[in-house]
Order: sequence, then structure tokens, then C-alpha cells
Amino acid sequence: MEHTLVLIKPDVVKMNSIGVILSEYEKAGLKIEALKMLKMTKELAAKHYAEHIGKPYYAKLVDFMISGPLVALVLSGENAINEVRKINGATNPVNAEPNTIRAKFATDSTLNAVHASDCIENARREINLFFLADELMYNL
Ligand code: CDP
Ligand code: MG
Repeated sequence: MEHTLVLIKPDVVKMNSIGVILSEYEKAGLKIEALKMLKMTKELAAKHYAEHIGKPYYAKLVDFMISGPLVALVLSGENAINEVRKINGATNPVNAEPNTIRAKFATDSTLNAVHASDCIENARREINLFFLADELMYNL
């Protein structure tokens, strides 16, 4: 059983499609273990996207991520980290498999609808950036 952090990015919130995205994960058998809406700050973006600081797209990415509210959630399930990344699809929607969230909702490589952790260490780190221990409906 793994836990992973998902962000439903500001583009999806503006499209009024939070529920559709949550349904995709629930239909796949993943369980929602924590959930909140918030506005990302530049400081939180720098922590969450630390490995991307200095990349040519970093400023555009941060401007997008702080452009409006987003939804943060923790999902659990068997192989949840890879399962969620499969449901999300490739970073650039041009490369995303049909029926993935990014194929259906992403605009480009930056405005790409969703985030999901890429490994166990990053999942733990990212979950702790967005949630306090008593906001998680399971024991880490
Ligand atoms: O989100 P994912 O793990 O699929 O991709 P990443 O390579 O870890 O990049 C993190 C985020 O940076 C992406 O989801 C995009 O929003 C953004 N990005 C971008 O704006 N332009 C790129 N060429 C690559 C990533
Ligand atoms: Mg990534």
C-alpha cells in the first residue's frame, strides 16, 4: 500500500472540473485519505518544485501554480504512485495516452491539469508540505 500526493492544478479548478478528476481516481480504486483547497505561494512552490528551480520553464510554472486555488489530496492504494501517474498521463499532453487526465484536460506542458508524486521519498516529502499530521486520515 502506497500513499501519493496529487494536486488538481488551477486550470482544472477554473474549468469547474474538480469532481471529474476526483472520480477518475476513485473509479480506479484509489482512496482519498486527505483533501483541501488552497492557494500556493511562491515559497511553497519553491519547496514543492525545488528540483525545477533554474529550469527555463520555472517562472512560467510558478506563475501558473499561484494563479488561483488548487486542490491537494493524498491517495492510497497498491502501487498508488505509478498508478496515479498512469491515470494522469505524460507531462506534455501531446504525448499523453488517450483517456488520461492530461490528454483530456491539459493545455500544454505547463498548464497540465494535475501533479502526482514520482517516488516514495518525494510522496512523503510532498504530503508533509501540504498536510499536517492530524489532517491525514491514516497513520504515516
Ligand atoms: O509533473 P510531471 O512529474 O509529469 O513533470 P515534471 O517534469 O516533474 O515537471 C513538473 C511540472 O513542471 C510539470 O507538470 C509542468 O507543469 C511543468 N513543466 C513545464 O512547464 N515545462 C516543461 N518543459 C516541463 C515541466
Ligand atoms: Mg515531476
